[in-house]
Amino acid sequence: MKTRDELAAEQAAFWNGPGGQTWLASYERIQRSIAGFSADVLAAAAARPGEQVLDVGCGTGETTAELAHAVGAAGRVLGVDISEVLVSAARAQDLPNAVFEVGDAAAFSFESSALDLVFSRFGVMFFAAPVPAFRNLRRALKPSGRLVFLCWRRPQENPWALVPMRAAAPFLPPMERPGPEDPGQYSFGDKARVERILREAGFADLVIRPLDRPVLLGPDVPAVVDNLGKFGPLSRQFGEAEPAQVDKAKQAIAEALRPYATADGVRLAGACWLVSAQPG
Ligand SMILES: C[S@@+](CC[C@H](N)C(=O)[O-])C[C@H]1O[C@@H](n2cnc3c(N)ncnc32)[C@H](O)[C@@H]1O
Repeated sequence: MKTRDELAAEQAAFWNGPGGQTWLASYERIQRSIAGFSADVLAAAAARPGEQVLDVGCGTGETTAELAHAVGAAGRVLGVDISEVLVSAARAQDLPNAVFEVGDAAAFSFESSALDLVFSRFGVMFFAAPVPAFRNLRRALKPSGRLVFLCWRRPQENPWALVPMRAAAPFLPPMERPGPEDPGQYSFGDKARVERILREAGFADLVIRPLDRPVLLGPDVPAVVDNLGKFGPLSRQFGEAEPAQVDKAKQAIAEALRPYATADGVRLAGACWLVSAQPG
């Protein structure tokens, strides 16, 4: 079993390597695919003029820009991300009231009790030790502050990810499964685990509500199959398989996705938790 330090190093290497590169290469498509979820988490966060805000795991900074717009000239947003390449892209936006820092939000030295809002869209599921990480975020909040974030529910509840994965599985080497306490995209899928982490980190007034929205995978089935071959977990499996098996996997994915193709693109259901809490 990997230690917490090994898991943290693995995450840092991933987001500074292939994870960051592929996110950067596909971020415009990703923005379109999760647009419905974004609007909801930003509305729930309700950033107000003059507020001090942190965007955790800000990536290329799209949500940071929205938050910066909401807090206006009298407010300020700090975007923190572990990935240098993504922070460079975020800085290129040149936002007047936002700054971006490369760092691990779990250990970042935030000013104490200074923030009105700690926000994240899909950026808090990658902490190797989530309780101390959320304690660090809680310390940065004013007593009147709030935490608002979005995370994926379990893969079984997310057909946009599960349908292609299941279709390809018979033709590919088995995927490495993370342990229930390991960091990763679906590590906050279990509501009870999210509750436990936040309570142990000192948060109270927890509200964890399901949010279901379609995820746009791409304009048509061939484009989606092409993307899956380039980005994400399936592309890594393709890299380990024989070319003939990859072809079979791609055909199986195309067949599985065909029922979801519409004039507006290939859309499958997605399922998230919209989480809010306050420092206890
Ligand atoms: C799924 S992406 C989401 C990016 C962005 N929030 C968005 O919605 O476009 C996850 C982000 O979390 C960042 N990340 C992962 N672990 C982190 C950590 N310990 N501290 C700060 N950022 C982290 C990654 O580098 C990546 O940019």
